[in-house]
Amino acid sequence: MIAEKTMPKVLRIFKVPKVLISWYAESDIQLVKKLNFAGIVLNSISMEKTKEIIQVLDKKFVPSISAEKIDQAIQKVAGYMNEDLAGKNPLFIVVLNGAFMFASDLLKKINFDCEVSFVKLSSYVGTQTTNTVRELIGLDRVLKGRTVVIIEDIIDTGITMAHTLPLLKNLEAKDVKVATLLFKPDAFQKDYRIDYVGMKIPNDFIIGYGLDYNGYGRNLPEIYTVVK
Ligand code: IMP
Ligand code: MG
Repeated sequence: MIAEKTMPKVLRIFKVPKVLISWYAESDIQLVKKLNFAGIVLNSISMEKTKEIIQVLDKKFVPSISAEKIDQAIQKVAGYMNEDLAGKNPLFIVVLNGAFMFASDLLKKINFDCEVSFVKLSSYVGTQTTNTVRELIGLDRVLKGRTVVIIEDIIDTGITMAHTLPLLKNLEAKDVKVATLLFKPDAFQKDYRIDYVGMKIPNDFIIGYGLDYNGYGRNLPEIYTVVK
């Protein structure tokens, strides 16, 4: 018998039945038959690999964060919030579009009274496109004196949130906290505090779980990283 640890890794990953492998390895069959067997296995493995890679518009992506890992990260954030924010009647402000899935799963795990509002950040002033975020659209609550928690999908360079925070502070909130599912420390250029971080990730472009590539990929239940 071939012990599991002596089996080639590809065969272990692919879960080829051990009985079959040892039969081929130990029986005195012609070399050509063995090669054939190996060919079938390798072929199936490469098919499996191709299945995992997805194409979105002109780019290829590979799975990088499973739905289970995402859920664990959200559970952790919800746990901290349930300790910190209970009794403070906070207002959660969800930044659309990217944060819709995170917000939906996070808020179901929150066990204290709270309000939820949704905003969009516009980078347009009049008809002129600018590189900076200038306007919050859709805010329908008075922030004065309240504990506010901004819910973001990802903080990358940190520039978007750096523009958003003063807008909210100007509305005289008592406290403004920041929560993000994902954080890219190597890309971050600012120095404000991020109160709740689900997961730190490498500085690679990702999609899925609300995040998009030119509008596509938001519906994917797990996160994929671009193939460079
Ligand atoms: P920041 O201003 O660089 O922190 O990025 C802010 C916004 O850019 C995020 O809220 C996302 O909408 C978008 N973004 C940043 N990194 C990614 C990514 O890897 N995939 C998809 N969108 C991203
Ligand atoms: Mg966002």
